[in-house]
Amino acid sequence: MKVLVTGGAGYIGSHTCVELLNADYEIAVLDNLSNSSEKALDRVKEITGKNFNFYNYDLLDYEKTDKVFSSEKFDGVIHFAGLKAVGESVQIPLRYYHNNITGTLNLLDIMEKHHVYNIVFSSSATVYGMPEKLPITEEFPLSTTNPYGSTKLMIENILKDLYVSNNRFSVTILRYFNPVGAHESGKIGENPKGIPNNLMPYIQQVAIGKLPQLSVFGNQYPTKDGTGVRDYIHVVDLGIAHVKAIEKKLGETGVHIYNIGTGKGYSVLEIVSAFEKESGKEIKYKICPNRAGDIAACYADASKAKRELGWEAERGLDAMCRDSWNWQSGNPNGYDD
Ligand code: NAD
Ligand code: UD1
Repeated sequence: MKVLVTGGAGYIGSHTCVELLNADYEIAVLDNLSNSSEKALDRVKEITGKNFNFYNYDLLDYEKTDKVFSSEKFDGVIHFAGLKAVGESVQIPLRYYHNNITGTLNLLDIMEKHHVYNIVFSSSATVYGMPEKLPITEEFPLSTTNPYGSTKLMIENILKDLYVSNNRFSVTILRYFNPVGAHESGKIGENPKGIPNNLMPYIQQVAIGKLPQLSVFGNQYPTKDGTGVRDYIHVVDLGIAHVKAIEKKLGETGVHIYNIGTGKGYSVLEIVSAFEKESGKEIKYKICPNRAGDIAACYADASKAKRELGWEAERGLDAMCRDSWNWQSGNPNGYDD
């Protein structure tokens, strides 16, 4: 069984490659390295002791992407490739729409041409917009608040339309909550360019002294301690969810949608103290105004994934913080060391 992983050099992609190889799938990776390093793939090979082909191609390049499907036969595709920074998507929306939407349209067209009908797509809890109640189930109304989120929702709709037009397709949409953590080997992890936007990588950089202190965005939310609450999910559990999705849904035609989270919400201050405990480092912080567009709390009802995929998150907050710290302290400059 062979799977093409688009965006496989990225944070979630590289961890998923490890889990696919460990489960004895053959893989190939297509990535233009716009937000990643080929070294991540070398480390995937090191961790698993297995080899695979890497295509340093852009999904926007139709001819090259088409060539990949002519030279190897795939049973399915896991589609991670895309731009993902919310703030940047507001600044340069056309680049986000072009990269994420046109890249996906090229991929789907080529898949259909080569009779590859199985796809797992990386969606996000961002498609639930401002949820009215919690926990969030897959049936909640969908809406978006920024161009990045809009590309996710548009691609979900494109995939649904594609299935209507050709019901040989098996589409699995995974809506991730907040991925954090790293492989326990400390060889691969999240490697953000510039100053991180997301909480855990920001805390990691405070812990190693690259950043002076964390700005906590708001402490007056109607949550347990007033700070924002999220459903953090260990990236290895997330990688395993993709393997389960391939195992259970490959060949089952239709559109299958799952929340991928733990179902538990932790506040910003809970994350800070768990990280301090695991790293032994003090995380200095100051309370700042709310970040525009933020919601108070967000966590998943992930029972559908448990019921239908036989998947549930196994790694808790301690492991998320320990593995994040292990990666960050061993690789203070990410893959640039
Ligand atoms: P990432 O940036 O680390 O990985 C994405 C990869 O796609 C990168 O390696 C990048 O070089 C590649 N890429 C981008 N555009 C490409 C193109 N046109 N052609 C070929 N390769 C291209 O991000 P990630 O955190 O691993 O996220 C993976 C997917 O999951 C993305 O689609 C993202 O939107 C989605 N997602 C991420 C999160 C999160 O918090 N990390 C949450 C929900 C959903
Ligand atoms: C953000 C994106 C969301 C995307 C998700 C995963 C926004 C508005 N939303 O979600 O679309 O799907 O990342 O990539 O950008 N926090 C701080 N200080 C910081 C950073 C974050 O206090 O420096 C707080 C936030 O206010 C929030 C929590 O930490 O309460 C988590 O933030 P973050 O990691 O950015 O994730 P989301 O806001 O859930």
